[in-house]
This record gives sequence, C-alpha cells and structure tokens, in this order.
Amino acid sequence: MARAFAEIVQPDEAIEPILARPVRQALLEWLEEIWTEPELMAVGVKPRRRALFAGGAGTGKTTLAHHLAARLGLPMAIVRPDDVYGRYLGTGTSNIKYVFDQAEAIETPVLLFFDEFDTVAQKRMRSGVNEAAEHDHNAMINTLLARLDAYPSFIIAATNSAQSIDESVWRRFDIQIAIELPGQFERERILARYLAPFGLGREGLRHLAEAFATATPALIRSWCENLKRQIVVGPRCGWDMTKHAVVERLIAAVQPHPDAGKPRLWSLGAKDHAVGMMPWPLPRSCDVPDDAPAGDRDDGGNVVRLGSTR
Ligand SMILES: Nc1ncnc2c1ncn2[C@@H]1O[C@H](COP(=O)(O)OP(=O)(O)OP(=O)(O)O)[C@@H](O)[C@H]1O
Ligand SMILES: [Mg+2]
Repeated sequence: MARAFAEIVQPDEAIEPILARPVRQALLEWLEEIWTEPELMAVGVKPRRRALFAGGAGTGKTTLAHHLAARLGLPMAIVRPDDVYGRYLGTGTSNIKYVFDQAEAIETPVLLFFDEFDTVAQKRMRSGVNEAAEHDHNAMINTLLARLDAYPSFIIAATNSAQSIDESVWRRFDIQIAIELPGQFERERILARYLAPFGLGREGLRHLAEAFATATPALIRSWCENLKRQIVVGPRCGWDMTKHAVVERLIAAVQPHPDAGKPRLWSLGAKDHAVGMMPWPLPRSCDVPDDAPAGDRDDGGNVVRLGSTR
C-alpha cells in the first residue's frame, strides 16, 4: 500500500487564531489578493502563493496555516520531516518528489504545509567533511527548489529556526511572517476563549493576562484547560479546591518550556496578585456583568478579523 505522504486536515476542523494586528493585517491583505486573482491576472500579475511562518514553538503557526487553508476552502496536507526523511523510500530527493507528486495527483488542490521546515530545507553544505551526505542533501534542495516553483496551489512552511533555511529556498517564499508571542490584548482574548464557559470579568482578565506576559498561546490554552479539568474532576476526587491549592497544582503541572521565558505567574505562584483578583469559585461568564463574551471579545480599534470580508 502506498505510504501516506502527509496528514490531511479539513477546513471544518480549523479554529481562528487570535493574532496581533500587524500579522492579521498582512494575512488579510494576502487573502484579499488571492480572492482578487482574476483582476490581478488581467494586469499580468498572480497572487502570491508561498508563505513562510517563523516563530517559536506553540506560537500558533500550524493553527494559522490551517485557518488560512479553511478561509480558502482547501484541505491542508501537513508534511513533517519524517515524511521527507522516511525510512522506506531512500533519499530525501525521492521523498520530496513523492510528496509533491502525491499532492499534485489529488484532484482538488491542497494547501501544502511543511512543518519544521528548517529540518528539510537546511542550508546547502560545502564543507567536504561527508561528501556523500552533502551531495544527497544538496541534490534534495535543488529538487525542492524546482518543485516549490512548479506547485500549482498554495504552500506554507513553518519554522522556529529561520536562520537555518537555505537562502535560495527562502527566496521562493513571497511572504515571510514572524509570528510573535501574543501581547497583553491578545492574551486577554486567548484567556477569555479558553476559560469559557467561565469568565473573570474585564479587570480579572486584565490582571491574569499581565501575569501571563511572555507566555505562548499554547501555554495559556493548556493552563486554562487544566483549570477546567480541576474544577470538574477535583470535587469528585475530594481534592483541596481552595483557589490557592488549585493554582499551585496547575503551576506545578503546566510548565513553560525551559528555553522560553517564565511568565510572572510561574515565579509568584498563588501569591501573584492576579490570582488574588480571580473570583472564586470561578463564575460562568454569563453571570459576570462586565465579562468579555465567552470566546472572542472584539471591542473595535485593535482588531482586524481575518474572516470578516468573505
Ligand atoms: N493565536 C492563537 N489563538 C488561539 N489559540 C492558539 C493560538 N496560537 C496557538 N493556539 C493554540 O495553541 C496550541 C499550539 O498551537 P500550534 O500547534 O499552532 O503552534 P505551533 O507554532 O505550530 O507550534 P510548534 O512549533 O510546536 O509546531 C494549539 O492548541 C492552538 O489551538
Ligand atoms: Mg506546529
């Protein structure tokens, strides 16, 4: 049986990420460009088709690529380094060909998403230390360049080590976007989304978002979801459900990556004044008079919604 060339995810499984304004603006412009393809073609230019997302682990690169595919109504094929350096098909060159051949053979176009792209598209080597390996890698990069150029649909590549990517490969991407850590405004919205159906009220959210400064969206999501697990499971198991005990258990169980900055909450623990500001037991957001609507509060000025124009 043919080896799966990628994991295919469908548009209806996508979620809309909460992004800082400049990133959302750049992506919205790209979508507008794609939606205006016939008019662009009439004046001799095509919409851009290849984007590179650079950002640390858990900043939302995969989530964003999936959301964009969904906005374009396309399935997304996630190609991981293992699919390129697989055990069965020999060299990276033949695997790259296999991935593109398979993607192009699908009747409906798919957005190709290369995850951990730096592992595949590392700079070409000319050290002479291991000539056979260097030759293989360089041949693979040449194939990759040709196939990137020829692929008829959209390609997004994600990396958390942009500086390792081969320069010629880099130049094949018409859009390079840095996915930064969320700012205070985005953290408030991410917290509101993942705490739902519970709510803290605007002040509570503001304080907690400050205590999460430097956290990735992935860490915020994990903390909120574990909090909800504690709220449901803890009383059944007879755990200490005081706010102090719950927060301390959460902080012990959900840790930021050692290379990432430690948000204040992890330094101060339950003594953080943001914890003091948290209403407890956590109310439902519908019972908090000044709460942000569960999910995504959108209070104007700072927000450009990606999904708003079509
Ligand atoms: N901007 C965001 N808004 C809401 N949720 C987000 C956002 N970014 C990430 N998440 C959530 O955080 C988790 C991790 O996100 P994702 O896998 O997209 O990160 P990533 O940058 O691809 O990480 P990695 O480098 O490890 O592949 C997901 O569960 C996702 O739903
Ligand atoms: Mg990812």
